[in-house]
Amino acid sequence: MTRLTLRRPDDWHLHLRDGAMLEAVLPETARHFARAIIMPNLVPPVVTGADAAAYRDRILAALPEGMDFAPLMTLYLTEDTDPEDMAAAHAAGLVTAVKLYPAGATTNSASGVRDIAKVASVLGKMAEIGLPLCIHGEVTTPEVDIFDREKVFIDTVLEPLRHRLPELKVTLEHITTSDGIEYVTEAQGDIAGTITTHHLMINRNHMLVGGIRPHYYCLPVAKRSTHQQALRRAATSGNPRFFLGTDSAPHTDPNKESECGCAGVFSATNTMSCLAHVFEEEGALDKLEGFTSLFGPARYGLPPNEATITLEKRATAIPYPEKIDTGEGPVTLFDPGHPLYWVVV
Ligand code: DOR
Ligand code: ZN
Repeated sequence: MTRLTLRRPDDWHLHLRDGAMLEAVLPETARHFARAIIMPNLVPPVVTGADAAAYRDRILAALPEGMDFAPLMTLYLTEDTDPEDMAAAHAAGLVTAVKLYPAGATTNSASGVRDIAKVASVLGKMAEIGLPLCIHGEVTTPEVDIFDREKVFIDTVLEPLRHRLPELKVTLEHITTSDGIEYVTEAQGDIAGTITTHHLMINRNHMLVGGIRPHYYCLPVAKRSTHQQALRRAATSGNPRFFLGTDSAPHTDPNKESECGCAGVFSATNTMSCLAHVFEEEGALDKLEGFTSLFGPARYGLPPNEATITLEKRATAIPYPEKIDTGEGPVTLFDPGHPLYWVVV
C-alpha cells in the first residue's frame, strides 16, 4: 500500500505555549490536525474559565488565515480551583477537560496538586457533570526512581482515586509503560489512554546510548524497549481506549541543550509521517485512522472530522526541517533516527 486516506486527525494532548512560540508552532499542528486538546501549563497557568477564554482567543488570533483548527481548552487543576467556575466554563462549552499535574512532576507544574484530598470536591463535581480529567500520571516522591514513577502513580494514586469516584472520566496521558497499558486495557469504567508519537519510536537506549540526546528527553521519560513494544502493540491494536496525544512540547535549543535541559519533544511537524511509519512496521496501517482520527472524538463525545488527509509513501526519504524558527529561538523537530517515507500530500 502506498496511498492512505484518513479522516483528518486530532491531537488529544498538545502544548502550544504563548506569544512568539505559539505563532511559530500553531501552523505546524494546524496543517494536519483539525482539533487539539491544549495543555494549560503556561506561566501563569490557565486556571479559570476566564483564563481559558483569553488563551483560546490568543490561539485563534495566531492562526494563519485560511487554516482550519479548533483548540479544545483545558483548565489546570490547582488546590484552589473553584468548582463552580469550572462547571460554568464546561457548561458554556469553553473547556473540554481538566488537567491534573502532580506538583513538581514536569514543566510548569509547580502550581499543580500536592495533596489529592484537597481537590476531592472539584473531582466530585467533574464526575457529576461528566467533565473528563486528563492526568500526568507520575508520582513526584523523591525516593521513587524516575523510571518507576508511572507505575507507582497508578498503584498509589490513580487506582484509589478511581475506586473512590468510579464515575469520573479519566484519560491517562502519554502512557510509557506496559503497566499503564495493562491498567487502561483491563480497568473497569470510563478510562482511556493517550500515547505519543515519540514514545512509539524511541526507548531509553535511543536517549542514552552513545551520548546523551537532549531532544529525546521528555516526561514521562522513555522507558526500556519492552515497554516501547507494549505501547506499539496497544496503539496498533484497534482498541478504542488508546488514541493519539502527541505531547508535542516545544522548547528552544538553548533550553534543551543545557546543563539542566527542559523536558519535551517537539513532533507536530512530522508526526503523521512518523505514525504511518510505525503502523506500517507493525503491519497495521488499517488501524491508523482509528488511532489518529476516530477513537479520540468518540471518547470526548465529538463527531469525527468530515475532512480527510492523504498520505503517500515515497520511494526515497522525505524531507522535513531539522528545526523550525521561532521568535524565541530555534526549536529542533523530533528526528526518529531513521528516514521516513510517508508524507501528507
Ligand atoms: O516532556 C514534557 N514536556 N512532558 C510534560 O509533561 C510537559 C511538557 C512541556 O510542557 O514541556
Ligand atoms: Zn504534555
